[in-house]
Amino acid sequence: MSTPHIEASKGAVAKIVLMPGDPLRAEFIANTYLENVTRFNTVRNMFGFTGTYQGKQISVMGSGMGMPSIGIYSYELFKFYDVEAIIRVGSCGAYDAKLNLYDVVLADAAWSESSYAKTQDSLYDKDYTYPDKALNASLVEAAKSLEIPLKQGTIHSSDVFYREHFDVYKDIHANTGSVAVEMESFALFHNANVLGKKAACILTVSDSLVTHEATEASERQVAFTKMMEIALAAALHYAD
Ligand code: HPA
Repeated sequence: MSTPHIEASKGAVAKIVLMPGDPLRAEFIANTYLENVTRFNTVRNMFGFTGTYQGKQISVMGSGMGMPSIGIYSYELFKFYDVEAIIRVGSCGAYDAKLNLYDVVLADAAWSESSYAKTQDSLYDKDYTYPDKALNASLVEAAKSLEIPLKQGTIHSSDVFYREHFDVYKDIHANTGSVAVEMESFALFHNANVLGKKAACILTVSDSLVTHEATEASERQVAFTKMMEIALAAALHYAD
């Protein structure tokens, strides 16, 4: 079978998918952490791979940037490929002075001014969506056993990366409780909720709107590795 944006046969995708934004990051994750890797998607170069991690089947696929993109890929994976859980692994910009570069943050809610959820489901009229509680608990547990500090908070999913008035982030931080910004979680959580599936999101702080600092390439890899170790350990609970 195939869907408009994924050409995989049905059994080619694992029940649990790790989802970075960048398809080349997905390839790097597959080659670095998984064994017996096969590629299940090349449509639009949005690569997806399945392999084994500690003997269990795990997939990793790029989501692209923004809610329309992750909305399409996560919907097709959940609805047509029998995927049970997706963990987004991404980066975020800090709104809160307590978040430092390279911190790993678990989203316990996503706030957005986006129309994604209302457009997808005309009965949904809220501007928060939520991850799966059990999947979040698995990520917290994994971080604890790996002794990696994990912060938690509401994440702003923005439709716009380049804002005209960046200081608006201060109002969003104050009014919505969002501690950081990225561009995908709100739609991912919404899709999981309407389809009865599970989703979560862990993020590495790559820049700060408070201090205007940004990460260095060399340090980014270390932080990324910590985030991946947490995601992979949690994913094992959902893998066959
Ligand atoms: N804005 C939106 N998305 C992001 C950012 C940001 O500053 N940093 C990482 N992802």
